[in-house]
Amino acid sequence: MYIPTALSYDDVLLVPKKSDIKSRHDVETGTKLTRNISLKIPLVSANMDTVTENEMAIALALEGGIGIIHRFCDIAKQASEVRKVKRKQNIIISKPFTISASATLGEFKEKSADLGCSSFLVSDNGLDLLGIITRRDVVFCSDDNTSLKAIMTPKEKLIVGPIDISTSEAQKLLRENKIEKLPLVDSNFQIKGLITEKDIMRNSNNNQASKDSSGRLLVGAAVGVRGDYLERAVALTEAGVDVLVLDIAHGHSSNALEAIKIIKRALPQMEVIGGNIATAQGALDLIEAGVDGVKVGIGPGSICTTRLTTGFGVPQLSAILNVAPVCQKYGVPLIADGGIKQSADLVKALAAGADTVMMGGQLSGTTESPGLAINYKGRQYKISRGMASLTAALSRPDSKEKHHQITPEGIEARVPYRGPVKDVISRYLGGLKSGMSYGNARTISDLRDCQFIRITNSGMRESDSHDNEVL
Ligand code: XMP
Repeated sequence: MYIPTALSYDDVLLVPKKSDIKSRHDVETGTKLTRNISLKIPLVSANMDTVTENEMAIALALEGGIGIIHRFCDIAKQASEVRKVKRKQNIIISKPFTISASATLGEFKEKSADLGCSSFLVSDNGLDLLGIITRRDVVFCSDDNTSLKAIMTPKEKLIVGPIDISTSEAQKLLRENKIEKLPLVDSNFQIKGLITEKDIMRNSNNNQASKDSSGRLLVGAAVGVRGDYLERAVALTEAGVDVLVLDIAHGHSSNALEAIKIIKRALPQMEVIGGNIATAQGALDLIEAGVDGVKVGIGPGSICTTRLTTGFGVPQLSAILNVAPVCQKYGVPLIADGGIKQSADLVKALAAGADTVMMGGQLSGTTESPGLAINYKGRQYKISRGMASLTAALSRPDSKEKHHQITPEGIEARVPYRGPVKDVISRYLGGLKSGMSYGNARTISDLRDCQFIRITNSGMRESDSHDNEVL
């Protein structure tokens, strides 16, 4: 039997080329996540419960990438995470949160904490505007039993705008009246939206962010292929999600292909990423089923043990090289998922034909990850775990198995605390831009013209710092 060799990121290097790129700022890192979604940077955060909830997704989108909200929670919680991202930066919030005038200050505080929102329009039926309650109204009130009716700014004193108000008119009203929120109403004083000063400022300050056509941040969310996956997909769509990512370890399976067809039939406008796969045939079958993006990676992840448990997998560089020609032929972007340890791996993945990379472990140690923060021997860490690890399997909402019935394909780990996501992204982008200048690549697709060479163990040793004591 002929057994081909397959390669991983560490087995290769890229050969430097004569470069006309004068500065790292002359390169363009824009790319595609799916057929119809563009990003300004090729970074996607993994749909793992120690990596991506709303805070990570917001941080990634603000930097020009995208986060994929994990599915290891009930549908309502996942949809609410999506909503939090979509509401983060929105010139017009079309369905602002409301609270009843008869609610108490205590109930207001509880709702505030639940929804991560410090002010509400006051309405008893969700339609007719009765007033507004903001942080300013509650700051000097200490009795939690106080009715909101007594402390809100009532209808008669409200400054409001029409639904078709322009951003500059809204900004003028906000500033002239020294207010931060402008409710939008129709002629019957029914709620039609809300504009906030903070959102106007955010939107004008960050051209780098990944935004939809209404200026809201982009976000993705994961769905499975069994049980309530279609119901979940519909709820996420209603919450405003921009892309659904199939979350299944072996994406080249009839279950996955069937689920893609069903989702695409039910939600034809929704962008769907299929995976994970590692072969050209896998990509062809996913594309035929209707995906808009293909996710590649069987077992390269930092917390994965699939290869050790099952004996199956393909080293990640070869997996990308297997799949990229098919993706390029059909114009379907490729997401290289897992195994990124440093910025060189990102550069190699893109040069091999990936359009974006998905990262878990490298982002799980950041401030914005939902993983538990711990202190061990005086150092700070965060907990990261594989979604097929023992504890993840046991904590699934629908878990029926006992621990001895579970065959884990992932581990639980602690990762060093790495600070804010922004800093990690900045290091990765610095490495990418520098790499692009070595390869005379002005764009990510130019990187694909670079030549790979295989290296030996001594080459690998030489690549790392050596013959000194690292400080
Ligand atoms: P990194 O290397 O970025 O990889 O941490 C993240 C990717 O790993 C996959 N993943 C798993 N794979 N068992 C596996 O074999 C698991 O328990 C597991 N959990 C996550 C997933 O594709 C993720 O994006």
